[in-house]
Amino acid sequence: MDTLVMFLLTGSLIQGVFCGYNISLPKRVEALQGSCVFIPCTFDIDQQYEHLLTDSAKRMWYKEKSPTVKVFDSSSPNTGLINGEIFGTPTQKNCTTRFDNLGQGHSGSYYFRLEANGVLKNTYRKPTVQIEVLRSPPKPTVSVFMDQKEVKEMMTVMEGSSVRLRCSTKIFCSSRPPSLKWSSSLNENITERQHQTQTELISDLNFTVSRRHHGVTFTCTATHQLQQQNTTQRSLTLRVQYAPKRTSLSVAGLVLEGRSVTLSCSSDANPAVNYTWYRDTKGLLNPVQTGPKLTINNINSTHSGRYYCTAENKHGTQNSSVLLDIQQNHFCLRTND
Ligand SMILES: *[C@@H]1O[C@H](CO)[C@@H](O)[C@H](O)[C@H]1NC(C)=O
Ligand SMILES: *[C@@H]1O[C@H](CO)[C@@H](O)[C@H](O)[C@H]1NC(C)=O
Ligand SMILES: *[C@@H]1O[C@H](CO)[C@@H](O)[C@H](O)[C@H]1NC(C)=O
Ligand SMILES: *[C@@H]1O[C@H](CO)[C@@H](O)[C@H](O)[C@H]1NC(C)=O
Ligand SMILES: *[C@@H]1O[C@H](CO)[C@@H](O)[C@H](O)[C@H]1NC(C)=O
Ligand SMILES: *[C@@H]1O[C@H](CO)[C@@H](O)[C@H](O)[C@H]1NC(C)=O
Ligand SMILES: *[C@@H]1O[C@H](CO)[C@@H](O)[C@H](O)[C@H]1NC(C)=O
Ligand SMILES: *[C@@H]1O[C@H](CO)[C@@H](O)[C@H](O)[C@H]1NC(C)=O
Repeated sequence: MDTLVMFLLTGSLIQGVFCGYNISLPKRVEALQGSCVFIPCTFDIDQQYEHLLTDSAKRMWYKEKSPTVKVFDSSSPNTGLINGEIFGTPTQKNCTTRFDNLGQGHSGSYYFRLEANGVLKNTYRKPTVQIEVLRSPPKPTVSVFMDQKEVKEMMTVMEGSSVRLRCSTKIFCSSRPPSLKWSSSLNENITERQHQTQTELISDLNFTVSRRHHGVTFTCTATHQLQQQNTTQRSLTLRVQYAPKRTSLSVAGLVLEGRSVTLSCSSDANPAVNYTWYRDTKGLLNPVQTGPKLTINNINSTHSGRYYCTAENKHGTQNSSVLLDIQQNHFCLRTND
């Protein structure tokens, strides 16, 4: 809030005095069309005129235009161009105000005026407060935090991590607060916790990420109390990454001398894995080739041994293996899982 010392042009020119006074106001407040707005405000008057200030003083708001127009008078709060309320009493020097049911035409600059005892007439010409009336409620904002840090890229989170989905929306008028509600395409019970600051309503969803959350869209809906209710919403889709799981190996073909056989590996992972094949010959692991399939043509007994397929992505590695035991005229095949 800015304060500025202004000079008082009292109506009491008889006394022929000027004195400095202050008012503290926000530069600008935003309001929603059809709703109300709070203007925090305190004022001061020169000590020598304090005795003139009583609780019967009139507190008024004027709109700056040509000519300026009185829009609100605390002595008749519901008959002005704007209805509302000024809080507290004049002697508390608190001019905090609520204006109700604002419309587009109410956008503009406003200043405060105080009149007491027919003698004290202070116009707090500067600073003014700029009221900006928004036609429609803004969408809520949504963000994702993983292990306390905000996730900025692609809403990508790791399986097993704790995430917090946060939705927030501005409180334009605390006497007609908005509401927030999370929903998700996963039909699941997730507890939503809400709290608010002076200017924002916040709703958090905390949970531990599992693969079921991959591709799930979470939607936050804000409802504002205007003339009618008005809802706006914003969504986010989680992408869950995880290390390889359920890596398995299958064998197609006859494991017989002279025939050919194809080993295939599969794994569930995000991002997708790459596969590497190893052959265990007398305890030595030799990489054979990469790719999801390994084909051995024209099998003979020298191909015997345990074959491993390892599935790897940036989050981890998993393997599966098969034992090919090729004899002259029969074969033996054993998988380890
Ligand atoms: C106005 O505010 C300034 C700074 O806060 C202060 O120094 C000054 O005394 C105030 N004037 C009056 C009349 O209260
Ligand atoms: C002025 O009044 C408002 C509304 O009652 C209150 O919230 C605020 O704290 C008061 N400000 C001061 C400086 O006393
Ligand atoms: C909410 O506000 C928007 C923008 O003014 C408007 O298009 C929409 O019809 C409103 N919805 C309701 C339910 O009032
Ligand atoms: C949600 O998680 C945040 C940290 O990510 C924590 O500070 C907060 O207390 C949690 N809220 C609930 C209700 O568990
Ligand atoms: C959701 O949780 C609440 C409270 O734990 C419980 O009463 C309700 O039955 C649950 N609903 C579903 C669909 O699980
Ligand atoms: C077995 O096959 C390998 C390669 O396919 C070949 O080099 C080797 O000579 C074969 N051995 C026999 C006994 O046929
Ligand atoms: C397989 O993927 C991992 C992790 O993304 C990478 O470090 C590695 O170089 C890849 N290996 C091959 C053979 O592409
Ligand atoms: C296969 O996985 C086991 C258990 O994680 C590990 O001990 C072994 O070294 C892995 N083998 C290969 C070839 O990666």
